[in-house]
Amino acid sequence: MCAAAVLFDTAKAQTLKFDADNFTQKQLTMPDGFVVKYKAYENIFYVSNVEDSVYQTLNVYVPENLKQDSPIFLRTYIGGYLASKAKQPSANDASGRALEEGYVVCIPGSRGSNSFVHKEIYVSKKGKKKKRVLSDEFQTVYTGKFPAGLLDLKAAVRYLKANDALIAGNSNKIITDGTSAGGAMSALLASTGNHPDYEELLDKMGAEKAADDVWAAVCFCPITDLEHADMAYEWLYGFCNKNIRELDSCHEALSEKLSKLYPEYLNSLNLKNPETGEQLTAENYLDYLKSWLLKSVSKAFEEGQEISDTAGVTFYDESKESRCIVDFNLEKYLEYVAKSQRLKNPPAFDSQNFCSNPPSAENKAFGLSDGTTLNFTEFAVGHILTDDLVKRVKMMNPMNYISDNQAVKAKNWYIRHGAKDRDTGFQISLNLALKLLGEGFNVNYFLPWETSHTGDYNLNELFDWLEAL
Ligand code: DHB
Repeated sequence: MCAAAVLFDTAKAQTLKFDADNFTQKQLTMPDGFVVKYKAYENIFYVSNVEDSVYQTLNVYVPENLKQDSPIFLRTYIGGYLASKAKQPSANDASGRALEEGYVVCIPGSRGSNSFVHKEIYVSKKGKKKKRVLSDEFQTVYTGKFPAGLLDLKAAVRYLKANDALIAGNSNKIITDGTSAGGAMSALLASTGNHPDYEELLDKMGAEKAADDVWAAVCFCPITDLEHADMAYEWLYGFCNKNIRELDSCHEALSEKLSKLYPEYLNSLNLKNPETGEQLTAENYLDYLKSWLLKSVSKAFEEGQEISDTAGVTFYDESKESRCIVDFNLEKYLEYVAKSQRLKNPPAFDSQNFCSNPPSAENKAFGLSDGTTLNFTEFAVGHILTDDLVKRVKMMNPMNYISDNQAVKAKNWYIRHGAKDRDTGFQISLNLALKLLGEGFNVNYFLPWETSHTGDYNLNELFDWLEAL
């Protein structure tokens, strides 16, 4: 006797044809009082082999004031790599604003590290497939370990493209938007279009046979480059291990080891200062980062924001009229950030199995369908990763695809990382922006002053940028 598990029939194979007549009429009142009326097409399966019917659906919203040749604004609500249901547009974020602007909005659900289905446990007698429930017990099977959530979003993009003739808006103008883990997903969608790495997996899911490249990516505080984010973090913040982080000796030793690994990686990226053409290396990189933070504080100062006395900024102050910023001390500034919210302990991302650290959101996301959490860096594992992990780690990092000609990249990128956001090192978003610039893409990057780990802010600025594309 051997036991084998078979999935519940969570949903029958669906036809993936969009039904343009199957909508309800809805409306949303925006903060400025404008009432957006729209057609709501909801709970649509976007793959034919649905594994998780709670999450593998999407909603499409078509506003009454539809723009001509309207882009399709695809907003993901993924956070922490968790599962995310298809939602309705919100008046308080970019989804509502996109509708107000006359864009079609798509909000797909996607599986994540915490989504699971229950499988019945069947028994088969030797050689025979006898379907009989073994017991009342169900087996919990996690459905959304990396790269499942990304595959779901790619399948949603394919659905929009395959149904282009039936869905309002232009599927050649898909804009992706997300924050944090969702910002990473937005960057991944926009950097891995049509890449063969994902093909077999998408095929198995019953995704449409269509392209999945997108036109523009909006990425708020993207948590990416996970296999190098630990070393980047310690290289940036390690100097304050004693005085601010108050690390114990176990974490402090880790921080030092990780920090030493970063220069080689940073140098290998072959990044250039886009203004001067100068090569960026571990030697001059911090000065370059400082120049971005100086731009950030200068903008805030010009706009009349109060600048904190402890943010490392020196003013020339002779008279109020001629008050201006004359210097910026990066270390003092990083201390200011570190004091505003406790820094993560090392390793900041691949944390489990070190110094009694609990598993991180990343350890969960790279885990297995039985719920096992996993380390995913060679540093943590201590040797080369399994083939399965090598593939999954590669597929979840946009940096691996930007110079790969087999991936069709979005031409336009809007990347924001709050200057007071310590969830990942500033290098992560900056390197993403620099690598894209190096490949000739249209990149709008900024580190907004006093902004923490959040997204969908300054929507006037964002939509002005989108309108000008
Ligand atoms: C998110 C935040 C993190 O600090 C992280 O490591 C992963 C994800 C998030 O907010 O999505």
